Order: sequence, then C-alpha cells, then structure tokens
Amino acid sequence: MMTSSAGAALLDSIRTRRARAGVVGLGYVGLPLAVELARAGFVTTGIDLDARKVSAVNAGRSYIDDVPTADVAALHAQGRLRASTTFDVVAELDTINICVPTPLGKAKDPDLSFVVSAAEAVARYLHPGMLIVLESTTYPGTTDELVLPILERTGLKVGRDFFLAFSPERVDPSNEKFNTKNTPKVVGGTTADCSTIAAALYSAAIDTIVPVSSTRVAEMVKLLENTFRAVNIGLVNELALMCDRMGIDVWEVVNAAKTKPFGFMPFYPGPGLGGHCIPIDPFYLSWKARQSGFEARFIELAGTVNGSMPHYVVSLVSDALNSVRKPLNGSRVLVAGVAYKRDVDDIRESPALDLLSLLHARGAELSYCDPHVPRLAGHLWQGGVDLQHVDLQSARPGAWDCAVVVTDHSTFDYDVLQRVATVVVDTRNAIKEPGPNVIRLGAPRKADLLATV
Ligand SMILES: NC(=O)c1ccc[n+]([C@@H]2O[C@H](COP(=O)([O-])OP(=O)(O)OC[C@H]3O[C@@H](n4cnc5c(N)ncnc54)[C@H](O)[C@@H]3O)[C@@H](O)[C@H]2O)c1
Repeated sequence: MMTSSAGAALLDSIRTRRARAGVVGLGYVGLPLAVELARAGFVTTGIDLDARKVSAVNAGRSYIDDVPTADVAALHAQGRLRASTTFDVVAELDTINICVPTPLGKAKDPDLSFVVSAAEAVARYLHPGMLIVLESTTYPGTTDELVLPILERTGLKVGRDFFLAFSPERVDPSNEKFNTKNTPKVVGGTTADCSTIAAALYSAAIDTIVPVSSTRVAEMVKLLENTFRAVNIGLVNELALMCDRMGIDVWEVVNAAKTKPFGFMPFYPGPGLGGHCIPIDPFYLSWKARQSGFEARFIELAGTVNGSMPHYVVSLVSDALNSVRKPLNGSRVLVAGVAYKRDVDDIRESPALDLLSLLHARGAELSYCDPHVPRLAGHLWQGGVDLQHVDLQSARPGAWDCAVVVTDHSTFDYDVLQRVATVVVDTRNAIKEPGPNVIRLGAPRKADLLATV
C-alpha cells in the first residue's frame, strides 16, 4: 500500500506501461537500459549531451557493441525509443535513470561532477509523481546526501511528491551469457515506497529484482562486487610476481586450484587493471571510508600491486629483448591489444596505455595491433603520438623485435604474432603452443631465453 497518492498513480502507470521512461547518459550502461525499457513497453527517451549519440539513436543506429543496431532501429521505428540533447523533455517524463560517468579526480578522489550536473538538470524539470534512480557507481551515501538535496531544493518532498532510489548497474561488456535483462538487479530506495516503485520499473524490463533496505546498501553492494574483483586480481598478480621469482607457472597453479569444486574462484594475473569500473570504484569506497576515519587497507594494497603490473611487464619486455642482445631503447615493440579486455573496443583505463607510455619513455619504437581500436589518438596516452592499428598478416617475419600480448582478443593469430616478432611477451597466457621465443608473465623462462638473460 503506497503512502502517497502520487506514488500510487506512478506505480499504476508503470504497471500498465503508460509511464514515460527517461535515461540520462546513453553510454555503455544507459543505451542497453533504454533499449530494455523500450522493449518492455515504455515510450523511452534518452538524454545525452553528446549530440553524436543522440543523432545515432534518432537515426535508429547503435554505437555499443552489445546492442544490435536492428534493436535500436526497430524500437525507434515503433516510436518507443528516441533521444534528446536537452533536458526540457524531462517535463514530459515519469521516470529517470541516471547513468552518467563517475571517474576519479587527479588525486584519486571521486569526481561526482557529472552526477551533480545531471541531477541539477533533472531538478529543473522535476514534477510531482516522478521516479529518479541513480545507476552510476558511487560511494555509499551519494543518493541520499548529494542527489536528494538537489532534488528537494525544488520544494518537492521525497516519498510524497517524487521517489528516489539507487540501483547499481552490473553490465559486463561482451559477456554473451549475461546482459542487462538477465542480470539480477539490486534496488534500494530512500523510502519504502521509493523501493517499491523502482522495483516495479525494473521488474518490467529485467528478469530478477533484488530489493535491499536502503540506497546506501545498494551503493555498497556494487562497491563490494568490484572491490572483490580488484582485491582478488591483486592477490593473483602478487602470486604471479612470486611465481616468476620462484620459477613456478602461476597459470598452471590457478588452473589446478580451480578444480576444487568448492571454496575457490579463479582469478587470473595480467598486465594491470582496466575499464571504467575495477580500477576506479574501489577508490570511491576507500575515499568515503577515510571520511569516517577508516583506512581501507585491502583496497590500497590491491591498488599498489595492480598498479605495478605494467612496470613488471616492461621488465619482461626488457628481459625478452635482452635474450636477443637488444636494448629496449630503439627496439621496435608491438603491443597486441590495447582495449582493456578481450573483444571490446573500450580503452578506458586500459593497462596498454600505461605500458605504451612506459615503453615510449624508454625509447622503444611503438606500434600496436587491435582490430577493435583502429586509431589511438596521442592525447589518450602519455606518449602523445597518434598511432594506428597495424595488420599483422601483411607484415614481414621479424618486423618487430618484441611483441607484447596485452589483450587476448579472440581474433588474434598467435602463430603470425610469433612469426612477425623476434621475441614475444605473453601477459595473458593466450598462446597455447608457445615457441621458444615466448616469455609468459608469471611463468618460468624457457632455457634458451634464460641463458642470455
Ligand atoms: N561500462 C561498464 O561496464 C559499467 C558497468 C557497471 C557500472 N558502470 C557505471 O555506470 C556509469 C556510466 O558508465 P558508462 O560506462 O555507461 O559511461 P559512458 O561514458 O559510456 O556513458 C556516459 C554517458 O553520459 C553522458 N553524460 C555525461 N554527463 C551527462 C549529463 N550531465 N547529462 C547527460 N548525459 C551526460 C556522456 O556523454 C556519455 O554518453 C558509471 O558510473 C560507471 O561506473 C559502468
């Protein structure tokens, strides 16, 4: 039973799909959500400051790999999905999901400027009977301490006039099994009615809803999930460094350990963390914990270990080149894969960018191949040089002194890679049959590579 009449009317309009839905921020999170809401039967409007994204949606085109253009085209043609660069459309909408970026500032503190500006823009058109849900990953307290005051400055009251909730996004780009619709959705409202209304919106579009008691719990859930990954990756990266020193193959260790049918979950070492979530979100939590006088030690330690991995990869490249009597300075080095993970085109926080900068600073002549990233503009990495994807098929044998596998895209041909580079560093255990010229991260060196190192 709703305690407010505005809430009862909104709930009814959601259940009957008369509610008009809005999504602010049409990126990797917002576009798939807008598509699901439209598919569920809501007339859905996306709002983004990026005119190219808005034009694409209004032309029935997708720009996110996991969202087929056919879906956007069909929903747009049916009049159920459209987009706008301005917020005046909010006056016509009943629900808003805010999916804007939450990056870190220079000192690794939360940059909530996108959330604040989106909330302020929504507040200008806030009207009774609206639901606002924040989806951007952030520290516990953001929804109630930051977004709520902005919305209540309008004179409207949460739980009576409008409804507010937090629901973390769990999208895993390129995951073929789990998508927005079949990934359970955690929802926590500012009041009980807020939770009920937000859960009703999501249950129209998403298979499983997990209600929790507050926005703070919902915010913390997401940070636990991502911190869990960051810390476990930190642990296995440290194990890889240890295994390198001890002459043990970390990949063999993890693969054998994962045969334990209970109490173990495999994580794999690599060249460092990447993407918009795992390298960033834990620091939202440690920053907020620090406000309460609490040091989040696991987060800081994992950050240190994971952040050191590109430096370790540079040392592997040096060792590999050393084995063929070449210095890093002046050597031609090919980085294979610059996206932050397999089969995606997203380079945000990619460890490849750090690696390129470190190699550039040591005088390496750099190239990269990544069919998902045709160009790498100079301003995106510290070397500042524009680079372009090179096609390996047409390269001559030994064209590069060293190749480094940073991202194990499924289309890579590792036989070709081993042919075009004199030595290869494999940071992902991607090469199933490594030749004598391959060094793997966290694994013993082959005798002939070791001999000269
Ligand atoms: N990408 C992921 O895999 C993922 C997964 C889970 C959670 N998240 C979280 O979801 C949030 C969004 O991430 P994303 O990957 O979709 O980001 P994104 O950069 O792909 O998309 C964000 C969009 O918001 C738009 N935008 C920025 N400020 C705006 C404003 N004031 N008004 C309207 N539009 C605005 C940008 O133009 C951009 O299109 C972040 O908090 C992120 O941490 C991302």
